[in-house]
Amino acid sequence: MSNNFPAACVIGNPAQHSLSPLIHGFWLKQYGLQGCYARETVASSDLEQFIGSLREKGYVGANITVPHKEAVFKLVERCAPEAQNLGAVNTIWFEGDVLCGTNSDGFGFIKSLDAQTPKWRETSKIALVFGAGGAARGIIPALLSAGVEKIIISNRSVEKAEVLRAQFGDRIQVCAADNGLKAAFSEAGLIINTTSLGLKGNGSPAQYFELCKKHTVVSDIVYVPLETPFLAAAKAHGLATAQGLDMLLYQATIGFEKWFGIMPEVNDELRAYVLDASSRAF
Ligand code: ATR
Repeated sequence: MSNNFPAACVIGNPAQHSLSPLIHGFWLKQYGLQGCYARETVASSDLEQFIGSLREKGYVGANITVPHKEAVFKLVERCAPEAQNLGAVNTIWFEGDVLCGTNSDGFGFIKSLDAQTPKWRETSKIALVFGAGGAARGIIPALLSAGVEKIIISNRSVEKAEVLRAQFGDRIQVCAADNGLKAAFSEAGLIINTTSLGLKGNGSPAQYFELCKKHTVVSDIVYVPLETPFLAAAKAHGLATAQGLDMLLYQATIGFEKWFGIMPEVNDELRAYVLDASSRAF
């Protein structure tokens, strides 16, 4: 790497499938910045050494992807509360000599709702979340911080939802039975799919959209296809929907600002560019 301009990278194993280089490359060009963003495939056995020599390699920071998010969490010296909640980081940077980390998924999700369904906060006192994996773990504390009063989690493995309830407290409820799910559809002002169901047409979470209130907002973190069957069904019932691509784009803004000094814009040109590339990649 050249030392003449800031460089960042995505660190994963593999890092080939990451869309981050496309996103950051787009912004670097759009803002006319001298900088670069690379891919680094790093084995777990080399990770500590790699992170320890990040600066010598010419990097001002990085995104961290699968499977290294938890391991790098343990290596950063200063950690944002968002990452503490998860025990995982997806963005690292330096403040002076101190290596800092955060997890920007929750921020990205909230921003994506603000952008697509700006009135969601008025009607979303109760949320129904499908899934209890890494994505749900990022989104749930962000929803609680944004003022959602109750979150009902529905997950195939109920015990994983129970772990989230134990972690995030009595504003979380776990929904096990079908009846509970119908009640959740009728009371929730926000319904979110955080599972991989819907990715490339692979199934869908349970749907009782006919029971929803008319202002309920429905969101999906899957973005290939951009309109998942889940979102299409919600739309057919007249509900407002928020697609999953914006979460990916907004979570990336945090790192870009830390490394390159500009909070970048998420616009339709970027959406089209990334969508086109991701539909070919998946
Ligand atoms: P991510 O980091 O993307 O959240 P993850 O941690 O592997 O990925 O979590 C995937 C989520 O999708 C989980 O909630 C998973 O349910 P389980 O906890 O029961 O495994 C859910 N999921 C994946 N495939 C599913 C399927 N075929 N049916 C129902 N839920 C599914």
